[in-house]
Amino acid sequence: MGPPGSGKGTQASGIAKKLNVESVSTGDLFRSHQTRQTELGILAATYMERGEYVPDAVAIKIIMDWVVHPKRSKGFVLDGFPRTKTQAETLDKELCRYGGVDRVLLIDAPEVELVRRLTGRLSCKDCQATYHVDHNLSSNNRKCEKCEGRLYRRSDDNSIVAKKRIQLYRKETSSVVEHYREIGKLKEINGAEPMDTVAKNLLEAVE
Ligand code: AP5
Repeated sequence: MGPPGSGKGTQASGIAKKLNVESVSTGDLFRSHQTRQTELGILAATYMERGEYVPDAVAIKIIMDWVVHPKRSKGFVLDGFPRTKTQAETLDKELCRYGGVDRVLLIDAPEVELVRRLTGRLSCKDCQATYHVDHNLSSNNRKCEKCEGRLYRRSDDNSIVAKKRIQLYRKETSSVVEHYREIGKLKEINGAEPMDTVAKNLLEAVE
C-alpha cells in the first residue's frame, strides 16, 4: 500500500520475483482492459481519468478472481489493493483460512516528491515498467529499456489529477492502513529513499 507515486509498482514485481510468486496491480489490470476496450475498461476509465476510485464491486471482482486462481495457491503480492474498508474486509474474509494476509507493506513519501514523480513518470505500454523524465532513461531513447515498448504519459498523471488521487488516498485508504496496523500486520517503509534501499527494506520487512 501507499499513495500514488510512492513506488508500489516499481517495487511490487521485484519483491514477487524474489519470493517466487506473482504480483498484480489493480491499476494495471484496469489499464489492460482499457487498451482492449472491454466494457470493464471503458467503465473504469471514467473513474480513473477523474482520479476517483473504481466502484468496490468492480475492483473486488477483478482482484478476487485473480487471487482465488489455483496458480496463486502458494502466495502472491498485491499492488494497490485493498484501498477501501469493503475491499479489505472481502480480502480478509477470503484469506482467513490461511490466517489472513502475511504482511502489509506501506510505502510513503512527502507529497511534493509524490507529485514530482507522478508528473514526470513515463510508463511502458507493453510491460508497465516505469521511468522518470529526470532519470533512468537514456536521453536518446524513449523506448522501454526492458522490452522496447512505447513509453507514454498516463492520462491521470497531470498535476491536478495527481494531487486529487493523493488526497483521495489519504481520505479513503488511511482507515485501511489503520486496520492493518491494529492487527499487527503493517510494516512501514520510507519511500523517499533511493529505489535500491526501498527494495532492500521491503524485502527485509517481508522476510
Ligand atoms: P494505480 O495504477 O495503482 O495508481 P496509483 O495508486 O495512483 O499508484 P501509481 O501507479 O500512480 O504509483 P506507484 O506507487 O505505483 O508509483 P510508481 O512505482 O509507478 O491506480 C490507478 C487508478 O486505478 C486509481 O486512481 C483508481 O482509479 C483505480 N484503482 C486502482 N486500484 C483500485 C482499487 N483497489 N480500488 C478502486 N480503484 C482502484 O513510481 C512513480 C514514479 O516514481 C516512477 O517514475 C518511478 O520511476 C519513480 N520512483 C519510484 N520509486 C522511487 C524512488 N525510491 N526514488 C525516486 N523515484 C522513484
